[in-house]
Amino acid sequence: MKTPILDGLNKIREREKVSFHMPGHKGKNTLINWADYIPYMDTTELYGLDNLHDPKGIIKESQNIASQVFGAKETIYSVNGTTTGIYIALAAVTNPGDTILIQRQSHKSIYNGAILNRLNIDYIYTNYNEKHHLYTGIDPLDVELKLKENPNISTVVISHPNYFGLCSDIDKIAEIVHKYDKILLVDEAHGSHFTFSNKLPISSLEAGADICVQSTHKTLPSFTQTSMIHVGSPRVNIQKLRNMSSLYQTTSPSYIFMLSLEIARAYMEGEGKHRLDKVIEKAKEVTEDLKAIDGVFVFTGDEEDKTIKYKDVTKILFTIENMTGTEIMKALMEDYGIYLEMSDYYYALALSTVMNDEGDFNYLKKAIIEIAEKRPKRNLKTIDFNLPKAKTSLPIYEAYYAPKEVVNLEESIGRMSSSFVIPYPPGVPLLCPGEIISRELVEYIKFATDIGIEIIGLISYNKEKIEVVK
Ligand SMILES: Cc1ncc(COP(=O)(O)O)c(C=O)c1O
Repeated sequence: MKTPILDGLNKIREREKVSFHMPGHKGKNTLINWADYIPYMDTTELYGLDNLHDPKGIIKESQNIASQVFGAKETIYSVNGTTTGIYIALAAVTNPGDTILIQRQSHKSIYNGAILNRLNIDYIYTNYNEKHHLYTGIDPLDVELKLKENPNISTVVISHPNYFGLCSDIDKIAEIVHKYDKILLVDEAHGSHFTFSNKLPISSLEAGADICVQSTHKTLPSFTQTSMIHVGSPRVNIQKLRNMSSLYQTTSPSYIFMLSLEIARAYMEGEGKHRLDKVIEKAKEVTEDLKAIDGVFVFTGDEEDKTIKYKDVTKILFTIENMTGTEIMKALMEDYGIYLEMSDYYYALALSTVMNDEGDFNYLKKAIIEIAEKRPKRNLKTIDFNLPKAKTSLPIYEAYYAPKEVVNLEESIGRMSSSFVIPYPPGVPLLCPGEIISRELVEYIKFATDIGIEIIGLISYNKEKIEVVK
């Protein structure tokens, strides 16, 4: 009997000592012992329970409590992550044919949402911090400029924070968006915990978002796939939102997932909130200690960059001289059993949550110091990852459904892409359907593949082919 998934998971379980990645529960229980509930409480809409598609009883009550805790007018649970939450939110605040203004560095789910809802896209470009080789925030004035320039824009979609915990001036952006009487939809996938501490960035609802979607599973202790959609203002038609939730979500929503959302919220109202304060203090302490270590650099958001207003300190974004982020991540994993959230050419990212304890942080610090002491003598080649601005020649939804053909990457230069090319993580497309493929981009893709970055969207075993519009 072959059980490859089980075998793979068991291997990780043996090797992993400490988790600095999502899900936020880090394999630990909070208010209840899940072993008592799985599989017994994995059930369906039995008499006496409730239905996520028309909640009147316990699900309604649970969602109502969540909306009070998160400061929302209405909350809907998503059992298919923020990905589906974004499809729902986009569908609720737009109509097919509308134009949305998004960050070019948005997560794939926003692009997919535009395809599904047949939305036209206009872009704001995220600042590329050349000194630190990092996409940081957006300038609120760019949002204003775009809204002036393109009156067709109905909705502005921003990420708060980005994958690295960096936040633009969302307060100002909300003010501008509302001055132009548009809707602000916030992808807050990485910010569910903001509500629970004033030492963290402002939550998007507090800053004035009309609607936001949070991956509870990423930064709070709930199961993967569990997210919440929160409504922040009367600009959102709640009945339309409910209809869209019903359109996109499974007709068999998992009670385990919904319970997990409830437990995470309940935990954060009590013990979780205190633990979060401790984690923030510990993450700050480790950051300061690491900054003092020769060869280690931690990006704290205090660096000169006017597009960063807030930084989530629970995410430790760091480099070690002469090593790629991927090498750092591998060393931590293989030599210490520490699994990080992400790495790229320069950076490694440790994602901490309320479920990490002091010992986890001390062990991470010790490991980073030891790796830095043994770092290689070579000089890492400096590479600029600021990609050229995308040239779009067809709306994303038209290019996505257009007849396609598969060509070699080299032959694709000058052709129009009909698919996404996305490094994972963080899941931000390098190339979208409807965009013209440039030589720079092809070279970048080859380079990223060579250094071991996982790229999704290329075809064939060696990943040397791509789908283009015929
Ligand atoms: C910025 C951002 N938005 C949305 C998503 C999608 O979230 P989920 O995994 O909950 O579907 C992710 C996932 O990594 C993300 O990083």
